[in-house]
Amino acid sequence: MLNFELYNPVKIVFGPGESSKTGMYAAQYGKKAMLVTYEQHDFFNQLLEKLYKSFEDAGVEVVQFYKIKPNPRLSDIRQAVEICRKENVDVVVALGGGSVMDSVKIIAAGALYKDDVWKMFVSRHDVEVAVPPTETLPTILIPTKSATSSESNCIAVATNDETHEKAYVWTPVIFAKVAIMDPELTATLPPFQTAAGAVDAISHVLEAYLNGDQNSPVQDRINEGLITAVMDLLKNILKNPDDMQARASLQWAATLTWNGYLQSGLNAPTPCHQIGHVLSALYDIDHGVTLAVVMPAFFKYTAHLNDERAARFAELGNRVFGISRDGRKDIEVAEEFINKFEGFIKEVGVPTKFSEVNIPKEDLDKIADDVVRLGCNAQGELPSIPPIKRDGLMQILKLAY
Ligand SMILES: [Fe+2]
Repeated sequence: MLNFELYNPVKIVFGPGESSKTGMYAAQYGKKAMLVTYEQHDFFNQLLEKLYKSFEDAGVEVVQFYKIKPNPRLSDIRQAVEICRKENVDVVVALGGGSVMDSVKIIAAGALYKDDVWKMFVSRHDVEVAVPPTETLPTILIPTKSATSSESNCIAVATNDETHEKAYVWTPVIFAKVAIMDPELTATLPPFQTAAGAVDAISHVLEAYLNGDQNSPVQDRINEGLITAVMDLLKNILKNPDDMQARASLQWAATLTWNGYLQSGLNAPTPCHQIGHVLSALYDIDHGVTLAVVMPAFFKYTAHLNDERAARFAELGNRVFGISRDGRKDIEVAEEFINKFEGFIKEVGVPTKFSEVNIPKEDLDKIADDVVRLGCNAQGELPSIPPIKRDGLMQILKLAY
């Protein structure tokens, strides 16, 4: 385990029905709230009415911004920042998945930022060219999807719709004041979205497990447990959508996957996310789906790179799926794990191949170029264990087809 600092000040209010207290929490931060949600919010209408009542009861005026799209666009965020400033909003509230919550973190910081918000963003982990925000309006994040952990981390991702670049803001300044996690809200999602969100949550754990410090047994055992729990809970919810206990556990598991605690001491890069961000920016594909198509290919490629990698996948297969390692080569166990994992993703109805999400085969070079430009380090390597150069990247992309 490596040395680390951990800081997470987000107050979490958790449980079915807790979102009815939103107005009360908003009133702690002022008299005027901007409520942000998706452009397409028909399936939230009842929920929005309830939230409105909660604001009204608490004496909080609401400014609506119902314009966020999945894979949020910088142009929409800029527009919300302008409204926030003009209306003198006191607190910004997100109702939605990662796209809305990430947008709200940027909008709230952007309202007090002296420059254009794009200056806050960075693409590459090794090039710190951004001017991070130093202050923010308070935010309240209400997730409707168990996936990104955005409600409890200090990361926000958005797409510059002029340059098609998906980049992020990562600074403790943008931590929310309150995350209201009401598992009943996750029942508003179609099953496909629930499944894609769970795959995203699992991907966070796997990125850390495979690419972080490899001598951290506490994080390993917790991460293995989270993967099995998320897989079991998702399958249960797809069969019994009203099982609120399962939804509560899935939501709690998802937030633990990327809230800083399990990443501590690992210093893990996120190679599958770097590839996934490029796919989202180019083709507007759901974040969880990009990971579902990248992970199996990435695993197939890296498992064969050396004996240590094969052994790591074999350990994972043994712990997560109970695959026996007795008398077998690590690479055989690793391959069985990868097949079983891909089988799980297919079973829950999420695509695992580029061809299923209409990515043209002739675009693979362009995708690799963008990953090198936006996700690789100054040496042209995608941070990973081991680091991957462009030719390896091309092999992964071909395997994903
Ligand atoms: Fe993610």
